[in-house]
Amino acid sequence: MVCQRLIMLTTAIFINLVVSSIVVAQQKPPHIVFVVADDLGFNDVSFRADDMHTPNIDRMAREGIILNSSYVQPLCSPSRSAWMSGFFPFHTGLQHDAMHGWQKAYLPGNLTTLPEVLKSRGYAAHAVGKWHLGFCNLKYTPTYRGFDSFLGYYMAMEDYYNHTQGGGYDFRNNTAVERNVIGQYSAHIFTEHTEKIIRAHNKDQPLFLYLPFQSVHEPLEVPQIYIDKYCSHIGNTSRRIKCGMVAVLDEAFGNITSLLSTLGYMDNILLIFTTDNGGPVPFAGNNWPLRGSKHTIWEGGTRGTAFVWSNNLFSKTGYTNDGMMHAVDWFPTIIEASGKKFDEYKIDGMSQWDTIRHNTPSPREEFVYNIDTMANMFAIRHGDYKLIHGNTGGLDDWYPVPRVDGLQEEEVAPPPPSGPFRLFNIKEDPEERKDLTETQQDILNQMKTRLDAWRATEVPANYPKNDPAANPAKWGGAWSSGWC
Ligand SMILES: *[C@@H]1O[C@H](CO)[C@@H](O)[C@H](O)[C@H]1NC(C)=O
Ligand SMILES: *[C@@H]1O[C@H](CO)[C@@H](O)[C@H](O)[C@H]1NC(C)=O
Ligand SMILES: *[C@@H]1O[C@H](CO)[C@@H](O)[C@H](O)[C@H]1NC(C)=O
Ligand SMILES: *[C@@H]1O[C@H](CO)[C@@H](O)[C@H](O)[C@H]1NC(C)=O
Ligand SMILES: *[C@@H]1O[C@H](CO)[C@@H](O)[C@H](O)[C@H]1NC(C)=O
Ligand SMILES: *[C@@H]1O[C@H](CO)[C@@H](O)[C@H](O)[C@H]1NC(C)=O
Repeated sequence: MVCQRLIMLTTAIFINLVVSSIVVAQQKPPHIVFVVADDLGFNDVSFRADDMHTPNIDRMAREGIILNSSYVQPLCSPSRSAWMSGFFPFHTGLQHDAMHGWQKAYLPGNLTTLPEVLKSRGYAAHAVGKWHLGFCNLKYTPTYRGFDSFLGYYMAMEDYYNHTQGGGYDFRNNTAVERNVIGQYSAHIFTEHTEKIIRAHNKDQPLFLYLPFQSVHEPLEVPQIYIDKYCSHIGNTSRRIKCGMVAVLDEAFGNITSLLSTLGYMDNILLIFTTDNGGPVPFAGNNWPLRGSKHTIWEGGTRGTAFVWSNNLFSKTGYTNDGMMHAVDWFPTIIEASGKKFDEYKIDGMSQWDTIRHNTPSPREEFVYNIDTMANMFAIRHGDYKLIHGNTGGLDDWYPVPRVDGLQEEEVAPPPPSGPFRLFNIKEDPEERKDLTETQQDILNQMKTRLDAWRATEVPANYPKNDPAANPAKWGGAWSSGWC
């Protein structure tokens, strides 16, 4: 009896040793590619929308895991700050609006960034595309925030070909103004440059690529050939151009992933694709069947298109995961995927690595859509419920894809309840059609208590007045660092 137990114990220890040595052998950190589509709506990819053309994205989304409850902030820089820091923007002063070129606004300097952690673990880290986390001082720019290299622009948006915005040129090669690229469409510049980085990289070192594309933010611009090839069936002019822009993004994604595959990177890789916010309806973005638009606290502004793909890291693939995730979760998730949890200080993000890897339930039960006292806009989610207090951001209706004859219809929302609150059960009513404030008083009160607790932790927004010192005319015509 005793002897048998001893044998069992020894066997168990032996198996344990074998298993852990396999685990150790597999623990080579994966390459990580984080692709961001700017302003891509919930219904702007052809795995959801019939009128779009995204075969490369669709294939990898379907082979991978579609994240169907992946939340982002209602607009650009706040989402980017969440990815880079793991904090909700209302905890870092970035909750109000996006950063503007004339403002002394930036991701606070005392936050450790995602590439900084990855670099400390042996990764190479490169950023290609849109930064939008501050540039008034060099120390806020990408190569001072953890990236080995940067090619792209600092601000929210610009012309896709001449790379100017608001009277200034905005395109950098690391920290230097780069005028080589004038006249070239940004998706082509970024793809070619990314391919160059991949080719020059030594695959033995883990690679982190952060690829925040300009596509598909306004202005609505795209080489005509993409419209002619993929989008001539669309009657609405804006939606037709948007379709072309989405098609270039998909081609870029296809080119980059196919090069990664050719060079053998797919053996050990975590590929993440996400939007930064919902689609802007006035610029032909579409979030159907969700309510609202970019800039709003509605699901259409905050529930993002996202998926992950890997050949070797997930125990289940080819399905839709409905686990609750928020943009702040990418920071700890990516860091855990690189080998070991982030435990340097407490952040808002929760690692979703097991949710993704093993399809276990999401650890998240609650998140903050936003807390922005300056805009009187507040919303939280707890369990299945969502509470909104104050402003929603406008564009409160439901917007189907524009009709074949071009017309953009709108399903006009009924008048809101009296009083500042709105309450929805998102699980049963993801389209936010049935307001529960009058029928679910108990839940309303519990949710108000939760919201108050979060509001007590709000850091005042850093939303300074425009500073004339930013004027690109003072800096050789380019938006530049050196005035804060
Ligand atoms: C960064 O600085 C702010 C303001 O001083 C402080 O409240 C916050 O705790 C700091 N964060 C970290 C992670 O050190
Ligand atoms: C860049 O293109 C925009 C149109 O998107 C135009 O308004 C602007 O004048 C152009 N700027 C330069 C410097 O060519
Ligand atoms: C960036 O600068 C490097 C070094 O000067 C140069 O080789 C490269 O072509 C530049 N990239 C672009 C896109 O202009
Ligand atoms: C993708 O690769 C093809 C073939 O080299 C090229 O023609 C196309 O411009 C590339 N697309 C992008 C977005 O860079
Ligand atoms: C085309 O769609 C855009 C964006 O959805 C909309 O603003 C515009 O009014 C539509 N055009 C027509 C003719 O309805
Ligand atoms: C994803 O969520 C949307 C909105 O709730 C829903 O319409 C759709 O059926 C979900 N997709 C899957 C595959 O679960």
